[in-house]
Amino acid sequence: IDVFVDSHLVLPVVEESDAQANITAGCSDKDMCDESPCQNRGRCVSQGWRSYKCECHRPHEGRHCAEEYVTARFGSKDLESFAVFSSDDEPGDTVTISMFIRTRQSSGLLLIMANSTSQYLRLLLEEGRVKVQVNNFETLLGRAVLNDGHFHLVTVKLDATEAVLFQSAQNQGSMRIRPVQAHPGDLVYVGGLPDSRASASFGGYFKGCVQDLRINSKRLQFYPIATPVESYSLEQLVNIAEGCSSDNACAVNPCLNGGLCYSMWDDFICNCPPNTAGRRCEEVKWCELSPCPTTAVCQPRPQGFECLSNVTFRVESSILLYRSNLKIKRRLSSVSFSFRSRQAVTILLHAQKDSDYLTVSLMDSHLVMDLQAGASKDSHQVTLESRGPVSDGDWHTVELSMENQTLPTSRWIMAVDGGREELSVSKTAAGDLEFLREGADISLGGLSPDAGGKLSGCLGPVEIGGLPLPFHHDTELNLPRPQEEQFVRIDHEATPQYGCYGASVCAPDPCKNEGVCEDLFDLHHCTCPSEWTGPLCQEPTNACISSPCINGDCINLPGGFRCACELGYAGERCEVEADMCENSNCSNGATCLKGFKSYGCLCPQNLTGPYCELPQLPVSTCMGTRWNYSCFNGGNCSEANNTCFCLPGFTGQW
Ligand SMILES: *[C@@H]1O[C@H](CO)[C@@H](O)[C@H](O)[C@H]1NC(C)=O
Ligand SMILES: *[C@@H]1O[C@H](CO)[C@@H](O)[C@H](O)[C@H]1NC(C)=O
Ligand SMILES: *[C@@H]1O[C@H](CO)[C@@H](O)[C@H](O)[C@H]1NC(C)=O
Ligand SMILES: *[C@@H]1O[C@H](CO)[C@@H](O)[C@H](O)[C@H]1NC(C)=O
Ligand SMILES: *[C@@H]1O[C@H](CO)[C@@H](O)[C@H](O)[C@H]1NC(C)=O
Ligand SMILES: *[C@@H]1O[C@H](CO)[C@@H](O)[C@H](O)[C@H]1NC(C)=O
Ligand SMILES: *[C@@H]1O[C@H](CO)[C@@H](O)[C@H](O)[C@H]1NC(C)=O
Ligand SMILES: *[C@@H]1O[C@H](CO)[C@@H](O)[C@H](O)[C@H]1NC(C)=O
Ligand SMILES: *[C@@H]1O[C@H](CO)[C@@H](O)[C@H](O)[C@H]1NC(C)=O
Repeated sequence: IDVFVDSHLVLPVVEESDAQANITAGCSDKDMCDESPCQNRGRCVSQGWRSYKCECHRPHEGRHCAEEYVTARFGSKDLESFAVFSSDDEPGDTVTISMFIRTRQSSGLLLIMANSTSQYLRLLLEEGRVKVQVNNFETLLGRAVLNDGHFHLVTVKLDATEAVLFQSAQNQGSMRIRPVQAHPGDLVYVGGLPDSRASASFGGYFKGCVQDLRINSKRLQFYPIATPVESYSLEQLVNIAEGCSSDNACAVNPCLNGGLCYSMWDDFICNCPPNTAGRRCEEVKWCELSPCPTTAVCQPRPQGFECLSNVTFRVESSILLYRSNLKIKRRLSSVSFSFRSRQAVTILLHAQKDSDYLTVSLMDSHLVMDLQAGASKDSHQVTLESRGPVSDGDWHTVELSMENQTLPTSRWIMAVDGGREELSVSKTAAGDLEFLREGADISLGGLSPDAGGKLSGCLGPVEIGGLPLPFHHDTELNLPRPQEEQFVRIDHEATPQYGCYGASVCAPDPCKNEGVCEDLFDLHHCTCPSEWTGPLCQEPTNACISSPCINGDCINLPGGFRCACELGYAGERCEVEADMCENSNCSNGATCLKGFKSYGCLCPQNLTGPYCELPQLPVSTCMGTRWNYSCFNGGNCSEANNTCFCLPGFTGQW
């Protein structure tokens, strides 16, 4: 503007050729940011005339934020991958490390900063969270989980005293640290160490993607972008691929039982058919396939099912025999079962191999376990007995187990009915039931087919180390049991009676006299009508026991009683005073005179005797028993003519 040549203003003439020379008339100033030159949501900042700057969002870079840092894929196809950078600046004791991370792994090595003598900073994945380790010692574990398959920006800020961890701008925690000193020549390992054993000790090689890794303002580029940026120099790049492609997780057919696999980034989803469940459709809902006979109840088990039932044993029925299928891997350190019996002495379970044996029996109505097990040379012997009697015909649950299941030998515990009151602990120690795993014969309901002491009663499901001794043969099931570890029934002649039934104690009816029989499991009870008593209602009830006769003796009669009343009492229970004159023996028109417990007869003149039954003799002497009292008031009786001589003052015949 305002160009003067020799004081003359020179005006520009814009011609066609000038336009080609990129000269136009005028001088317009316009905000270059109006044209939104920054891409990928970069922020445009005007800077004077016809100038601007783009502030890019990570991971974008370049004048117009058009470029993106190249993502590095670690652990593609599970390869051991890592990158090494060398530092060439001196950041001092303030170090800020940041990067985008995408992974589905819960552990792995993210980044290690090391000088020739020590690894002074480690970033690891642990339990799906970021863990910061400074100087081998101070440790900080992030709060938020990172391994969800999405990108997360992870930032660690170290200064002289403190380390702070951020995840997508959210503070994940901080800790006090001793300062770290990064120097030129220090190495930065990303995703793993060259030594795979060393990597394994920090959770193994990282599997996932890393993008836009920075230490302070410097970039650590796996695949450099065109825009020149300050970067650490890349020393080594092993098995790392460009981009963030997914492994084909479906390639190994992870979905079982006919599930359909759908690929996701480094992951898969199984669309499971009905009757299966689980991430890999690995759980077949076996019981929905109705594998058990009607006499049993199906119970799902890991990788299989069991058909549970109760079974009734009688002295005459056969015992059941079992053996391990030799694929049992778990430790057998417990036995559990339920039973009911009224036998005081019997064998419930027995197994023996060489010097090792296990016997569970009833002795004197108590439950007893005898076990000898251990390293076969120095076997350990254990005896346990229930505190109370258990042969009462009720169901009892029993749990026998090693007190400490991690030790080779330990004391054994017997818990009856949940062990709330019944808990016995052995005095000595023994080993586990390994000999049962190794193919010892196990019998239920007796020692052996021909031996005595057979069980009469019921057993509920019996389990050894959590594995049942099945009451049904596999051939009785609609599907074979698929689980690996099994005990198998090996007897063939026995036909167990499924369910629990007591002996037929009420048929024929043992109760007499119309007593009602009640089945109490191998024991009956007669409820008698009132007039009968005794265990079988065969004894008449003693009706006199309640002393029904008030004034008399009770006489027990079949179906009742009779009262023999004391003199002077009458009524069914001698409860009324008798009228002594009723049925008196006073005869010949004598008058009966009532008295207590007695009566007297008042005789007519010409009669005498206690009942006036005797005629009064005209000639009788005063010596007669009666006549001593004939004359009253001291009068003398004259024997001659039976006449009273009265004392002076008295007169009259008597
Ligand atoms: C004018 O500018 C255009 C685009 O900026 C360029 O392609 C061309 O070469 C320029 N012409 C001259 C003569 O500099
Ligand atoms: C390595 O780093 C540690 C911790 O920052 C420091 O104590 C040690 O002196 C450094 N060693 C060398 C050789 O730089
Ligand atoms: C065994 O008997 C008990 C007691 O009657 C009963 O509760 C249980 O359901 C039975 N178990 C099976 C598998 O039938
Ligand atoms: C079992 O024994 C081990 C080794 O003695 C011990 O560490 C552990 O605490 C014990 N466990 C129980 C449940 O007693
Ligand atoms: C009547 O006399 C008979 C025979 O001597 C005797 O057995 C009976 O008890 C008497 N009756 C009464 C009510 O005294
Ligand atoms: C007693 O006397 C009555 C009349 O006084 C007479 O009828 C009766 O026959 C006499 N009985 C005897 C046994 O003498
Ligand atoms: C009646 O009297 C006579 C002579 O006095 C005497 O021997 C007799 O024992 C008396 N009888 C009674 C019952 O008292
Ligand atoms: C009664 O008789 C006795 C002897 O027989 C005689 O001693 C007595 O005096 C008489 N009494 C009267 C009142 O007659
Ligand atoms: C009875 O006999 C006595 C003498 O023994 C006599 O004195 C009396 O008169 C007699 N009585 C009658 C009623 O006969």
